[in-house]
Amino acid sequence: MSDRPVYRIATIPGDGVGPEVVAAACRVVDAAGERFAFEVDWSEHAAGGAAIDAYGVAIRDEDVAACGAADAILLGAVGGPKWDDPKAAVRPEQALFRLRGALGLFANLRPVTVHPTIAASAAPVRAELLEGVDLLIVRELTGGLYFGARTEATGAPGERHASDTLPYSESEIRRVVRLAFELARSRRGRLTSVDKANVLATSRLWRTVVEEMRSEYPDVEVGHQLVDSCAMLLIKQPAQFDVLVTENLFGDILSDEAGVLAGSLGMLPSASLGERRTAYGTFGLYEPIHGSAPDIAGQDRANPIGTILSAAMLLRLSLGRPDAADAIEAAVDAALDAGWRTGDIAAAGQPDERLEVVGTTALASAVVNALAAGAAASVPA
Ligand code: IPM
Ligand code: MG
Repeated sequence: MSDRPVYRIATIPGDGVGPEVVAAACRVVDAAGERFAFEVDWSEHAAGGAAIDAYGVAIRDEDVAACGAADAILLGAVGGPKWDDPKAAVRPEQALFRLRGALGLFANLRPVTVHPTIAASAAPVRAELLEGVDLLIVRELTGGLYFGARTEATGAPGERHASDTLPYSESEIRRVVRLAFELARSRRGRLTSVDKANVLATSRLWRTVVEEMRSEYPDVEVGHQLVDSCAMLLIKQPAQFDVLVTENLFGDILSDEAGVLAGSLGMLPSASLGERRTAYGTFGLYEPIHGSAPDIAGQDRANPIGTILSAAMLLRLSLGRPDAADAIEAAVDAALDAGWRTGDIAAAGQPDERLEVVGTTALASAVVNALAAGAAASVPA
């Protein structure tokens, strides 16, 4: 019997481009397993529109339980026009909320870095503003408007009324802010707490809790930003940010905005973490931040890098394999340096003969080859 560790990863390919990008990332993880002598016991689960079609629910209880029993989850994307009816009682996104809520995944980490050759060509923001951008959005994920009481529209047309509520308890704020402080400490030591304290009571509580905690982290420089001006600064001076921490909806919006800095949402990974520890690290759910992109689904056109980098985060945080995570990140950089691109990160309207514009599968192959080449180089002659 081999004494290689066997990690249990649950995959949720989901809808749209989800299955394509998850398949690409699984190939890369298996290649990392070859190089670093581990195995993965993969299990696949239906969620989102795929589960609605198959079972009539966004995710079955047994799939939530099985995912929760794995060492980590790798998710593609859920949703699409087929299930978009605003009146539908069952919606694909409910699968995300079930997983986040039931598995206690209260912190969503969305790192944004900018690959230099993409900053120079494909990014919509001027290259000089992107120099030194390396930020991490920590988004609260199981509270606020997403989980607060709501009433769907009632009343006669012309007089309809609906409501959503934004509740936060001190403990919900404290645990995500604590994680953000710890992360800031392990990075450049700067924490920006984002709120709307000039209007919202929950934001004033949020700010108070951050202030109460700062004495525990004298080595971390803390600043507060109102979310509207933060949205502006993220584009005007993105390099000034290190770690940002914010409530659920603000984090949702700011992280898509920050995605523009990386040239394409398709580049960005995420990790959703809770308190549960696995044998190797912290249990988590990892997914690219792009959505299901139904317009290009099934065409081998989606950028797999966000999912591949999510798998690298999974290896680092849930499986305690920084060696494999570093190697995957280096292989992605090598593939980009060599000019491999999907359409979203090939400079629009500027054909460049140094770039090879390819599909999902071929870009994943370039990453797999770069990983394997690293392996060859690390074996003594
Ligand atoms: C995200 C997505 C989800 C969210 C949607 C699909 C419900 O936008 O993960 O950022 O709003 O949380
Ligand atoms: Mg979002």
